[in-house]
Amino acid sequence: MTNGNDKPVILLENVEKVYKTKAGPLRVLKGVNLSINAGEFVAIVGPSGSGKSTLINMITGIDRPTSGEVFVAGQRLTHLSENAVAKWRGKNVGVVFQFFQLLPTLTVLENVMMPMHYVGTYKGQRRQRAMELLELVDLPDVAHKYPSQISGGQQQRAAIARALANDPPVIVGDEPTGNLDMVSAGLIFALFEDLVSQGKTIVMVTHDRDLAGQIPRVEEVRDGQLVPADQIDERLVARAQD
Ligand SMILES: Nc1ncnc2c1ncn2[C@@H]1O[C@H](COP(=O)(O)OP(=O)(O)OP(=O)(O)O)[C@@H](O)[C@H]1O
Ligand SMILES: [Mg+2]
Repeated sequence: MTNGNDKPVILLENVEKVYKTKAGPLRVLKGVNLSINAGEFVAIVGPSGSGKSTLINMITGIDRPTSGEVFVAGQRLTHLSENAVAKWRGKNVGVVFQFFQLLPTLTVLENVMMPMHYVGTYKGQRRQRAMELLELVDLPDVAHKYPSQISGGQQQRAAIARALANDPPVIVGDEPTGNLDMVSAGLIFALFEDLVSQGKTIVMVTHDRDLAGQIPRVEEVRDGQLVPADQIDERLVARAQD
């Protein structure tokens, strides 16, 4: 499934991101270096506006750096066209957002089948794999419902099933539990832990200090840069006492 060696599956080299705003250029990422190996589970924390989503968007290729290099799952992203990045992302990175973003006019099953359409999986196979994924996230009973007919926690599990459709080595979440109650958040977290134990690499932004405290590696974005591990703000991460 993944290349379980210690070559980084995500590598950011001196990534800078400057947005053009009416008030002038806004430097959001100021030289970020980040190396994540296959099978790592990484939390991204930091205050609102510090650049966490911007950083995540560099990894998914949803946005591109102003300068610097990004390599994910063996691909250099910075010189690919937008179309090529979208195609690449469909196979290599599963993305989970805070507000689920399921298509409202499709059933849960059809939502999960959707990414497979783009990579040319046969229709019968799409349906079978989508059902298997819905079982994995414990949602087989709502396969034929529409997103508006199920709870937020269920929608997020469906979104995770969709993110897994093409068996990507990397899964990225931008506050995937940010809009869920504690129980639903716990279920999502347990699912992520399972995926990591199966060799997936997961990077997730979270404002939940208890969740962050359970994630083996934490990176803090502060003022557009990553903070050294021993200087991470303990208000953002609750490490279990032992
Ligand atoms: N497309 C854009 N154009 C201009 N400025 C932007 C754009 N996207 C983000 N920004 C600015 O960049 C900074 C970092 O934004 P970002 O969304 O990465 O923060 P964040 O850490 O994810 O915050 P939050 O915790 O609130 O989600 C903010 O000042 C934001 O206003
Ligand atoms: Mg954000």
